[in-house]
Amino acid sequence: MTSSVLVAGATGDIGRRIVRELLHRDARVRVLTRPGSGTAAALFGGDDRIDIVEAAYGDPSALTTAVSGTDVVLSAVSGVRPVIVHAQRALLAAAVDAGVPRFIPSDYSSDYRRIAVGSNRNFELRREFAADLDAAPIHATSILNGAFTDMLTGTAPMILFGRKKVLFWSSADQVLDFTTKDDTARMAALVALDDDAPRVVEVAGDRVTARDVARTMSDLTGTTFGLQWAGTTGTLGAMAAVGRRLSKNADETFPAWQGMQYFVSMFSGQAQLRHVDNARYGEHRWTTVRDVLEAHLGNQLIVGTASSATRASGTTTVA
Ligand SMILES: NC(=O)c1ccc[n+]([C@@H]2O[C@H](COP(=O)([O-])OP(=O)(O)OC[C@H]3O[C@@H](n4cnc5c(N)ncnc54)[C@H](OP(=O)(O)O)[C@@H]3O)[C@@H](O)[C@H]2O)c1
Repeated sequence: MTSSVLVAGATGDIGRRIVRELLHRDARVRVLTRPGSGTAAALFGGDDRIDIVEAAYGDPSALTTAVSGTDVVLSAVSGVRPVIVHAQRALLAAAVDAGVPRFIPSDYSSDYRRIAVGSNRNFELRREFAADLDAAPIHATSILNGAFTDMLTGTAPMILFGRKKVLFWSSADQVLDFTTKDDTARMAALVALDDDAPRVVEVAGDRVTARDVARTMSDLTGTTFGLQWAGTTGTLGAMAAVGRRLSKNADETFPAWQGMQYFVSMFSGQAQLRHVDNARYGEHRWTTVRDVLEAHLGNQLIVGTASSATRASGTTTVA
């Protein structure tokens, strides 16, 4: 039975959440961090349920020692080819060498398996590594969760809050899969502790169309949010290709053009989840798109009220 989990990339946004969820379930956690990375001790030092091990991805014997004796290697690393393909290959080789029975790659994405070649760099890197994983003598499980719902209020510019519009490409009725970071982390911990997990576990905290999102925003704000056609997924893909050609830093993980490619994959339906199994580990209240938008609007209201109160009291802040 799985009880000891090595988490690579545990110092990252998703990694930390996964470690928290594993500890809730009484797992023994080993955090793998790169020498010089610097944050693992501050984040996890002093917790006797967590061991911290340092190893460079370019040092096979140190990596093998680092993963030895664990039941599953769970990756939550982030980056482009040097990380998703090269570092994960090194981690996989170490896991196989050390006889670790199971491996979970850093996927946490929409379904990258059927997307068109050249349409989404980050997804194709996952697909490339998945081929290595499929060929390795290890029990592998990928977690596919769609886009992080959290991004709807930040880095994914689909809702134009100020202009009261919701953008769509090609079809306002295309189903889009969303799961929050916390729900994804919870699922990753459950999968890590499940010796019988299949090759792919698909979950979606919510499945909505752009039309649903516009309706939800109208409902929550009491103001009509209209749908705005922003072109076809074909034109968006072409714009992403131009952005990619003009970009100066090929190693940036989430440049704007990659965000466009994410929308191409989602709005074309190519990356839609087909085998969602939210009940695999029993009933759970999944955070919906509405929940996330409601919380965001509530926060904005609080910030707005606080700044009008500050203005009313004549207080000024010098930055
Ligand atoms: N579905 C979605 O919408 C969505 C959105 C965002 C992210 N994601 C995915 O979620 C996963 C985790 O992302 P995150 O945002 O949590 O990542 P993150 O916070 O940027 O970092 C994850 C960790 O990766 C490790 N790392 C960084 N550079 C590395 C390198 N060159 N070689 C090896 N390890 C390196 C670091 O750990 P150490 O320094 O401790 O070694 C870092 O803490 C990624 O696969 C990402 O693509 C999905």
